[in-house]
Amino acid sequence: MKPMNLVIIGSGNLAHALGSRWLHSERIATLSILARSQKFLSQNWDADLQSRVTYDPKILSTAHLIVLAVKPKDASTALHQVAEHASDSAVVLSVIAGISIAQMRSVLPKSGIIRTMPNICSEIGRSVTGYSVNGVLPVDREYACQVLGELGDAVETPESWLDPMTALFGSGPAYVLEFIGNIINTAVTLGLDSDIARQLALRMVVGTSELALTEPALALGDLQSRVVSPGGTTEAMLHVLHTSRWPDIMESALKAAGSRAVQLGREAAAAVKPQ
Ligand SMILES: NC(=O)c1ccc[n+]([C@@H]2O[C@H](COP(=O)([O-])OP(=O)(O)OC[C@H]3O[C@@H](n4cnc5c(N)ncnc54)[C@H](OP(=O)(O)O)[C@@H]3O)[C@@H](O)[C@H]2O)c1
Repeated sequence: MKPMNLVIIGSGNLAHALGSRWLHSERIATLSILARSQKFLSQNWDADLQSRVTYDPKILSTAHLIVLAVKPKDASTALHQVAEHASDSAVVLSVIAGISIAQMRSVLPKSGIIRTMPNICSEIGRSVTGYSVNGVLPVDREYACQVLGELGDAVETPESWLDPMTALFGSGPAYVLEFIGNIINTAVTLGLDSDIARQLALRMVVGTSELALTEPALALGDLQSRVVSPGGTTEAMLHVLHTSRWPDIMESALKAAGSRAVQLGREAAAAVKPQ
C-alpha cells in the first residue's frame, strides 16, 4: 500500500511512544507532530523525533491519517482544529480515553473515525490495542490497521469495551510497574543490589508472561500451582497476599480506573461542542 502522511496532535507521553515507533515506518510518507508548547523539549526526545514537531495547525491539511493524542479536556479544541484544517477524506484515529465515536462524529460529520486504546508499550511494538471503526472506507481501514499493527497486537472490539480496556490495558503498564517496584524495594531491604534486583524482577515478569503465552489452554492457576509446594516459600507468600485481600484490592483499583474513564467521557461530553 502507498505510504501516507500522518500527523499526531499532541506532544506528550503517548505521542512520544507512538512517534518513536512510527518514525522509521515504511508505511508513513511523512510523520509530523503538532505541538502547542515546547514542554516536550524537557522530555528527552531524540533529535529526529523533535525535527518532526510543528506548531502550525495547517499541517493537518496534508494528513491522510490524524492521530489525536491529547487529554480528554483538550479533545474539543483538537477536534475543531481537524474540522477547520483537515480534508474530509482524512481518517481520524483517537487514543483519547473516554471520548466516544459519537462525540467525535458531532464535530467531524464526514470523517472516518477510529477510536483506539493502545498503551505506552507502543514505543517498542508491544502494545495491546483495542479499536473500534466508524465510517471508514475499506482501503483506509486496511491502511490504518496496518499502521496500528506496528504498535503491537491490535484487536477490533465493540466500542463499549474501550472504557474497561482503558483501565485494564491502557493504564496497565502503570500497575505492572507498581508491582515490580514493590518487588525491587523488598529485594533491597533483603540485601540485594538494587540494579541487579531491577534486572531480575523485570526479566522474571517477562519470563512468566512468555511461559504462560506458550500454553494458552492452561489455566493460570494450574501454571501457578507448578511453583507452589505445600509448606514452601511460595505458599507463605500467597497466604499473605490472599489474607491481605490482594484480589479485592486489585479489583477495586482496576474498577476505579474504569470509573474514571467513564467520568472523563462524561466531562468531555460537556466540553465537546458540535460543529
Ligand atoms: N500515557 C499513556 O500511557 C496513555 C495510554 C493510553 C491512552 N492514553 C491517552 O492518550 C492521551 C494523551 O495522554 P498523554 O499521557 O500523552 O498526555 P500528556 O503527556 O499530557 O500529553 C498531552 C499532549 O497534548 C498536547 N496538546 C493538547 N492540546 C493540543 C492541541 N490542540 N494541539 C497540540 N497539542 C496539544 C499537550 O501539550 P502541552 O503539554 O504543551 O500542554 C501535551 O503535549 C490521553 O487522552 C490519554 O487518555 C495515554
